[in-house]
Amino acid sequence: MIAEKVRAMAAKHHVLAEKEFSVVELDKGYSNRYLRIDLTSKEITIHPVSQQMKDLWVGGKGFDLWLMFKEINPSTKWDSSENPICFSSGPLGGTTSFPGSGKTLLTSISPLTNIPIDSNVGGYFGPYLKFSGFDALVVTGKCEEESVIVIDAVNGSIRIESAPEEDVDSHVIAEDLTFMYADDTTDMRNVAVVSSGSAAKHCRIGLLNFSFWDWRRGVARLKQAGRGGIGMIFMDKNLKAIVAKNKDITPAWRVEESKVEHLVRPKAINEQTSPQAMIAIDNIIHKWKDDKEYVIEMMQDIQDEFKFISKTAIERISHYTKRSKAYLYHIATFYKAFSLEEKGQISIQVCMGTTCHVKGASRILERMEQLLGIKSGETTIDKRYSLDAVACLGACSIAPVIKIDDQVIGNVQVKDIGNLLKQEDVEPDFD
Ligand code: FES
Repeated sequence: MIAEKVRAMAAKHHVLAEKEFSVVELDKGYSNRYLRIDLTSKEITIHPVSQQMKDLWVGGKGFDLWLMFKEINPSTKWDSSENPICFSSGPLGGTTSFPGSGKTLLTSISPLTNIPIDSNVGGYFGPYLKFSGFDALVVTGKCEEESVIVIDAVNGSIRIESAPEEDVDSHVIAEDLTFMYADDTTDMRNVAVVSSGSAAKHCRIGLLNFSFWDWRRGVARLKQAGRGGIGMIFMDKNLKAIVAKNKDITPAWRVEESKVEHLVRPKAINEQTSPQAMIAIDNIIHKWKDDKEYVIEMMQDIQDEFKFISKTAIERISHYTKRSKAYLYHIATFYKAFSLEEKGQISIQVCMGTTCHVKGASRILERMEQLLGIKSGETTIDKRYSLDAVACLGACSIAPVIKIDDQVIGNVQVKDIGNLLKQEDVEPDFD
């Protein structure tokens, strides 16, 4: 029945504008380009995202604001329905494996208050946009006829299509367009639809609805976003929906492995299988009388001894103290002093707390990385040095602060770092 209805609707579509594109692989969560669609001129254009943009406008919200500021000019009318709506997804927006993650951020100019507004929402549109190879999307202008935008990453086509028959009710249009653009029933989970819903006509708090296909229930489920009337602007553009069609990306309630799973799968936790290591671990635990009140002290000793807390250590502490493994993992991952991966013999910490930040901590970290040849969070290949950016080291009055093993050093200047490390005999060969 629905198939018949959808076929009839699809037959009324005609393509108003089209652009071919190729999907690009993500690099550290970025595709390094964004998409701009002007509904007035029917221009569909793809633009690069620069490193500077990523540095200055971190994440989805930053991208939205950056795009919004680019679009605003002296002739912008603050209450115009031609104003842009910017959608984006930060680097983590490429993750669909946890419910509630993979957010889409959106920004526009509120027709209620005439100021920029932003909102965020689940529903997988952001990740699907991201996996189509776009960090962000700007939709601007106004179409003269009722239309939908289709971003089809499977066939490499972005289209503005007329859509005269579709219902504007978000539940209905989400379902209809999911049927229309999915290849088959399984593929329906790869289609996300954004629409404003009929309420936007009557209510100035018009929302935008983001759908994803709930294959267990066989319905399109909606997430709402868009405080400040973004739905009104969307509808006033004569835009009934935006459809993102992707492939091989299955959300959290998947039944098979998705292609993004490796991006979020936790790293294997190191084990220690040698009898000597196990005896040493047991001795430390017994030193503290197997007392569950001293698990942090046990972990400190184990970290000092081995430079990491292994799965084996967690299991043995749990065995003797009867503390749950979950509780122990929580401690091991909460405190910066503990590490599940082997750290270097010499630990260097650069404080990035608020006070240190305003006193130039990022330049100090950059110089450290340069001198040691590793990034923050890494250990040199020879396991001699580890470098970590940490929050407040509790010595704000002498910011910016670094810590080398147990020694806290304040008032650090970039120009002094080479000498400082030499004095500490951390790195003999900086010149
Ligand atoms: S912010 Fe760096 S020591 Fe407090």
